[in-house]
Amino acid sequence: MEDTKGRVTREGIRIYESSDFDGMRKAGRVAAQILDEVIPLVVPGTTTGAINAFIDDRIRELGVESATVGYRGYEHASCISINHVVCHGIPGPKVVKEGDILNIDVTVIVDGWFGDTSRMYVAGTPSRKAERLIEVTHEALMIGIAAVKPGNTFGDIGHAIQTFAEGHRMSVVRDFCGHGLGRVFHAPPNVLHYGRAGTGARLEEGMIFTIEPMVNLGRPETKVLADDWTAVTRDKSLSAQFEHSIGVTADGCEIFTLSPAGRFHPTYK
Ligand code: MF3
Ligand code: CO
Ligand code: CO
Repeated sequence: MEDTKGRVTREGIRIYESSDFDGMRKAGRVAAQILDEVIPLVVPGTTTGAINAFIDDRIRELGVESATVGYRGYEHASCISINHVVCHGIPGPKVVKEGDILNIDVTVIVDGWFGDTSRMYVAGTPSRKAERLIEVTHEALMIGIAAVKPGNTFGDIGHAIQTFAEGHRMSVVRDFCGHGLGRVFHAPPNVLHYGRAGTGARLEEGMIFTIEPMVNLGRPETKVLADDWTAVTRDKSLSAQFEHSIGVTADGCEIFTLSPAGRFHPTYK
């Protein structure tokens, strides 16, 4: 298969070499390590701005670069999305309250490679329904990842995620998707978290992309606030998201953004 590497498919998806996976491992690990380090900071009374300042400092101290600072006018080293915020929450003076659920999303560039990951955090004790939402969303991501192997299609990934989330009477956001990445932040394909089995591009060894399902307790519709970034659920229902960067291998996939501390899931499963 070596002769097929370094090419781009007719859908515009780059096929990377196995040596490129080393770069992704390093970038993914740094992003995941920073998300581990944030865990003790997510407590009632802090602000999203304080959490972001820590992330910004750590990126600097580790000698890597933030992919989001300066990206399409975005100015921060993380996105922090609380409760009914679906994604792209802007860190700032907002105070975190007891029972809040937060998604924190960090993308770093290490030696030119992009590591993109997000996970859920809880401040204090979440409600039962918030806990269920987080559990189902995490499980949805892992079920999507389990569908990744050469020969399956991107539609198989979306179908697996949608079937699982809707089976728990939750909904999958359609307005945002995962994406190819590698030496760029956002590349083809759009990785949909819903769809029909067997549709879409076929998965091949060497493809690198994110899966990052957003799941809502209520309806799937979102809207973007006047700041042009913050996406919220239209019905104000709670929303959760988890994101891994992965690469397709000969018989499945490799997750580049596993938690070095084994704490990707907020209850450390
Ligand atoms: N990390 C996000 C993703 O998963 C993108 C954030 S772009 C930003 O693709 F500009 F909002 F930071
Ligand atoms: Co992403
Ligand atoms: Co991300």
